[in-house]
Amino acid sequence: MNETRKVFIKTYGCQMNVYDSERMADTLAPQGWVEAGSAEEADLVILNTCHIREKASEKVYSELGRMRVLKAEKAERGEKLLVGVAGCVAQAEGREIARRAPVVDMVFGPQSYHHLPGLIARTGNGARVVETEFPIEDKFDHLAPPSREKTIARGLTAFLTVQEGCDKFCTFCVVPYTRGTETSRPVDRILAEARRLAEAGVREVTLLGQNVNGFHGEGPDGDSWRLGRLCRALAEIPGLDRIRYTTSHPRDMSDDLIAAHRDLPQLMPWLHLPVQSGSDRILAAMNRRHTADDYLRLIDRIRAARPDIAMSGDFIVGFPGETEDDFRATLAIVEAVGYASAFSFKYSARPGTPAAGEAEQIAEAVKIERLARLQEVIDAGTRAFNLSRLDMEMDVLLEKPGRRPGQLAGRSPWLQAVHLDAPMELLGTIARVRIDAVATNSLSATLIETPSSRPANPSLRAGAAT
Ligand code: 5AD
Ligand code: SF4
Repeated sequence: MNETRKVFIKTYGCQMNVYDSERMADTLAPQGWVEAGSAEEADLVILNTCHIREKASEKVYSELGRMRVLKAEKAERGEKLLVGVAGCVAQAEGREIARRAPVVDMVFGPQSYHHLPGLIARTGNGARVVETEFPIEDKFDHLAPPSREKTIARGLTAFLTVQEGCDKFCTFCVVPYTRGTETSRPVDRILAEARRLAEAGVREVTLLGQNVNGFHGEGPDGDSWRLGRLCRALAEIPGLDRIRYTTSHPRDMSDDLIAAHRDLPQLMPWLHLPVQSGSDRILAAMNRRHTADDYLRLIDRIRAARPDIAMSGDFIVGFPGETEDDFRATLAIVEAVGYASAFSFKYSARPGTPAAGEAEQIAEAVKIERLARLQEVIDAGTRAFNLSRLDMEMDVLLEKPGRRPGQLAGRSPWLQAVHLDAPMELLGTIARVRIDAVATNSLSATLIETPSSRPANPSLRAGAAT
């Protein structure tokens, strides 16, 4: 019954979607599904979609147009193609997608991924399936964990979802509706998954959650653990040399997490902490529940604990009612913080969110102009940050072959791409380097110390018997 079939999963949006797509592939593997390199080769295509901004969901419908053509071509050759839509667009617009796009066989939301084999079986007689409920059982209990083989193939860095959903209800955001209320995974499951990743050679793990620093998972001792405590336990896993987490909310940046940044060398000095706006009036209208000054004082406390920490953020321009003065306050907070990097977006009205119904929507031309001005300030900050690394010694995780022969490429503690001349055997190690040139999107370095540790990832060990 387990004949080989091919699945192609196309992932849009955030890192959690990347993680979810991997879990879907891992859950299908025992049923004989292998991953295809393209939709053309596949028997099943799953679009794992994003609903966060308008453009993200529009892309899904245009991709479904391509799937319609592909399905027809395959039908002419007597082949079948199943098409599934997963992710946040599926959750938000389930029946609408099924109605608008007859090519779709299955629509299922993020809380139904563990039902995937059953959903596929239900399409057997040509039925179309829509599943967007929030089941009571925990999907993580039923989704396949990362397999050793696939983890090795996926490389040295991995995502690990620890928390999902959000109860903050920022007035612009669809997440509380598409991902549901905040839930945290139990600590022992997270540690077991992290140990499995480390044993397969993963050296850097990024903990994921829509509101990851709101983590409050049940600990093995019955207590509710916060993220700082979880990071301390993860730091004890041999081989897990680097820990990151994203995305955080300023209100949940608790003392235990700040102390973890002070104490754990494994916790990378990089913090993505979106503030969205620098104007207190707009922050209140966004229901962020903090002021610009609260945020700046919080960053002072974080920097006092970990002076080399670099900040990253998200900004929205053109939120309903945003005046030129409000926008200037955003430019001012960018200058005041000195971000190493930041994402900025034009406000996009999302159906069903409170801000979408506001009367004072901002004209597109104004949004475009403000976005350009903001990006200029952010880019200048990124350039200054990159330049400040010149001549600095730092550790680089050597992740892959570089652009030229004899080169390897990796990441700095601050997520910058770093290129250097280094022998292949160093792939998978953390090397000590000195930065000797800074380009727009990457740094060049010279090896100053050959790491003594062997690469942990078995696929990278030179001449390793498999
Ligand atoms: N419009 C524009 N940007 C948005 N974001 C979330 N919702 C919207 C929206 N409706 C941005 C926020 C968030 C990031 C993931 O996407 O900046 O932090
Ligand atoms: Fe959305 Fe983040 Fe606000 Fe939650 S905290 S509602 S995910 S922007």
